Amino acid sequence: MTAFMPRRHLLAVVAASLFLCGPAAAQDAVIAPRPFVAEPILHPIPRTAKPMKIGVIGSGNIGGTLGELAAKAGHTVMFSDRDPALSQGQANRVAGTRSGTGEEAIAFADIVLVAIPFGAWPAVARQYGAALRGKIVLETTNLNLARDGAQADAVIKKAGNTGDAVAGYLPGVKIVRAFNAAGYGAFAKQAGRPGAKMAIPLAANDPQAMEAGTRLVTDLGFDAVPVGGGLAGSAKFELGGPAAGTKNAAELKAAMGL
Ligand SMILES: NC(=O)c1ccc[n+]([C@@H]2O[C@H](COP(=O)([O-])OP(=O)(O)OC[C@H]3O[C@@H](n4cnc5c(N)ncnc54)[C@H](OP(=O)(O)O)[C@@H]3O)[C@@H](O)[C@H]2O)c1
Repeated sequence: MTAFMPRRHLLAVVAASLFLCGPAAAQDAVIAPRPFVAEPILHPIPRTAKPMKIGVIGSGNIGGTLGELAAKAGHTVMFSDRDPALSQGQANRVAGTRSGTGEEAIAFADIVLVAIPFGAWPAVARQYGAALRGKIVLETTNLNLARDGAQADAVIKKAGNTGDAVAGYLPGVKIVRAFNAAGYGAFAKQAGRPGAKMAIPLAANDPQAMEAGTRLVTDLGFDAVPVGGGLAGSAKFELGGPAAGTKNAAELKAAMGL
């Protein structure tokens, strides 16, 4: 049909096709596979007496590792990621887990574990904010300036701390911040270690979120050290600060001045 079109109409059709196909083509673009290298979990993780449903958003290093620990502890885990091949890969790797969409993971979950780059919060909040209202979110995000950019840095500085910056994206959500102050390899290697356990600091904007986060931290083979003062309390354990690393509870409390 285009063979019979006047030239200006033909140009208009080509321009319209480019306009329409551009975003669709971008959405369909294959996301390059990232190598996820699982760190072996070294110690046995006892089965919990109270299994919970854990929905994971962002199934990379942290989502994959904590999801695996949760499954070993007897919790039910559903992985999701914006790249479904990645979450399906985690589900194939970790016995007894499954993969779904973000919406499915949220609907399924007692606790939604969000392990995404900090800079992805605006997009994730736009996509899932309504579904997350009233839910408990355990979030692990840290600023990585090179990855997340100056805008993300400005958001955290304005909020005063990373936890409150996340809460700014998630009105009506019960948030507990944990597992941000050490590397995923440390979580895999130290979980359930004999002797004094590795301690995980937590801050929350809601008592139910703190209770659920504390239970999950404990079930995964760590000692929980709740920090008061709402999410602002998480300023005491930002990555790179004195509380970071694989301390036991006494060492961690001393480092945070508790
Ligand atoms: N790595 C650590 O040891 C560590 C320790 C403590 C805390 N943290 C913090 O925890 C967070 C996760 O770290 P990580 O190392 O697990 O990162 P990661 O391996 O890069 O995994 C993050 C995952 O989230 C996905 N994602 C990005 N945008 C998304 C969206 N809109 N919806 C759903 N999924 C999305 C990413 O997909 P793409 O790959 O397609 O972008 C990626 O699969 C970060 O904020 C990090 O700073 C990391």
